[in-house]
Amino acid sequence: MRRSIIAAAGIVQLAVADWQYKSRTDLAPPRLNITIPAADNVEKGYLFVAPFAGFHDTATEQHGPRQAGPYIFRDNGDLVWSGYGIYSIWSTNFQAARWKGQDVLFSFEGDHNAGYGHGHGHTTIMDQHYETIRELRAGNHKLTDKHEFHVVSDNTAVIQIYQPVPYDLTAWGASEEQQWIVNAIFQELDMSTGEMLFEWASLDHVTPYEAVLPLNPGQAGSGYNSSDAWDYFHINSVDKNTDGDYLISARDACSVHKISGSDGSIMWRLDGKNSSFTLGKNVTFCFQHHARFHPELKSENEGDNIEYISLYDNSAHGTEDGRGTEVHTAPTSSGKIIKLDTDAWTAELVQGFYPPDNLRSKSQGSTQLLPNGNVIVNWGSEGALTEYDSKGNVLFHFYMDSGYLDLGVENYRGFRYNWTGLPNEEPAIVALENDEGTTVYVSWNGDTETKTWRFYAVTGKYGAKSFLGEAPRVSFETALEIPNKQVMHVVAEAVDARGKVLRSTGVAKLEPEILPATAGKKTPTFVVQDEGQQAWMELK
Ligand SMILES: *[C@@H]1O[C@H](CO)[C@@H](O)[C@H](O)[C@H]1NC(C)=O
Ligand SMILES: *[C@@H]1O[C@H](CO)[C@@H](O)[C@H](O)[C@H]1NC(C)=O
Ligand SMILES: *[C@@H]1O[C@H](CO)[C@@H](O)[C@H](O)[C@H]1NC(C)=O
Ligand SMILES: *[C@@H]1O[C@H](CO)[C@@H](O)[C@H](O)[C@H]1NC(C)=O
Ligand SMILES: *[C@@H]1O[C@H](CO)[C@@H](O)[C@H](O)[C@H]1NC(C)=O
Repeated sequence: MRRSIIAAAGIVQLAVADWQYKSRTDLAPPRLNITIPAADNVEKGYLFVAPFAGFHDTATEQHGPRQAGPYIFRDNGDLVWSGYGIYSIWSTNFQAARWKGQDVLFSFEGDHNAGYGHGHGHTTIMDQHYETIRELRAGNHKLTDKHEFHVVSDNTAVIQIYQPVPYDLTAWGASEEQQWIVNAIFQELDMSTGEMLFEWASLDHVTPYEAVLPLNPGQAGSGYNSSDAWDYFHINSVDKNTDGDYLISARDACSVHKISGSDGSIMWRLDGKNSSFTLGKNVTFCFQHHARFHPELKSENEGDNIEYISLYDNSAHGTEDGRGTEVHTAPTSSGKIIKLDTDAWTAELVQGFYPPDNLRSKSQGSTQLLPNGNVIVNWGSEGALTEYDSKGNVLFHFYMDSGYLDLGVENYRGFRYNWTGLPNEEPAIVALENDEGTTVYVSWNGDTETKTWRFYAVTGKYGAKSFLGEAPRVSFETALEIPNKQVMHVVAEAVDARGKVLRSTGVAKLEPEILPATAGKKTPTFVVQDEGQQAWMELK
């Protein structure tokens, strides 16, 4: 008799890696705290996030996630790929993209200066086999910042840089010793050669007059040295349109600027101290992120004077400890789609996307417009993500490790993308025997194609295989209980939707199973019940 079970119901302790996966005891991915399960009309695709601990651990409080890094998840919180330790150092802005007709992943990797919100590093690009195929650095002897990497044509991408430079700041209230400012720079790079094709520097075009945060300790730097340079402008996103012009979000000017691709001049400013537009109701934003052009929203009868953009409006600024309550300009953060008219010089809100639980994030965040009209808003320092329909109705909401799961998780940007992952590494397998029988567990980090796992006993000198059973793949890890007969060695094969064998595991030798010593203890537990469903339970 052959029996196949779906081993998605592994019971684990919280806040530690222990017992999450039998075949990958080293992995402790964040657990998604899904407070509004995905509705039927969410967009197709996987979730791309890179959660990290926003706070240092203290003697009395630990902050999650235990394994900060880039992750791909399904809507039910099931892990597809853990990039922990693969994209190393500090990783953020993790996305899928197309590069010269190829599906790729990219992420910023580098050092993170949380106090100033700056990163220093490079962009690493991987192929569908999770192999690094390119590392891109900034041009002109500079270091790439963490905020932006955005593929804007078949073979070019935009990045940005925070370059500290000495500057005469006396006109802005500086003492003699306050001599450092951050020049906010962006570049467009050829992704194949790394050649710098365009460079724009804020100090050539924008004076500190536009700064909303004064030269002052604890705000945006006080200018006493290069690591404390006054971050008067703070670009955090760059986009490019088909006319060859750029759109930048300048957080510390509370404005979005359109930049001419031919001479770098400022074509218009939206909001901030010197807005080119009259703002309609709820258009105003501050400390915003992730401004993007959206030519696809234009209807046929709208002329060249009409432009659509989206952005993430934090509406808040402040310290980690104060949770951004020090300065805020709206009751909550929000995602925004804005229509601009450069004849009438008016800006109107097309749609606002307001958060469940009145979230207000003092840092980070993104707003992604999806092909079916839905919108994903990622709430930055609040470590949460929401999907909406085009009218702003909430379809899906989750936190990344929150509540008693783990505290203080933050996530810079969050996206939904389609992705086909074909890992180069072999699938992992373990065969565990206890009093009740033997169970074989398999997983394959990053694989999206396996539909069924087939299990075989390996016998005899020549490794002859005899079929033990099969199990549908419904979760990161799949298990098969096997009858207690003379089985000592087991292998499994990953089979795709068309019945093709993708890959075989190595041979697993039966091992005695060590069970979690939680019986009798009252411990919160995590159970993925089945596809589309997740539940939190207390052990009796
Ligand atoms: C830079 O200036 C800040 C603010 O005055 C100070 O806290 C910091 O210690 C200085 N760093 C160095 C390396 O001098
Ligand atoms: C305000 O914007 C206009 C263009 O719209 C520009 O000519 C002017 O220099 C700006 N003022 C300041 C103080 O930046
Ligand atoms: C305008 O903003 C307020 C406060 O954030 C919000 O409650 C309201 O629904 C918004 N109105 C529109 C039309 O977006
Ligand atoms: C999930 O998030 C909610 C809202 O922040 C929180 O109240 C709850 O405790 C969290 N659940 C878990 C299991 O951490
Ligand atoms: C994923 O692919 C499906 C099918 O082609 C498409 O309908 C959907 O819009 C895609 N999702 C994303 C996030 O691009």
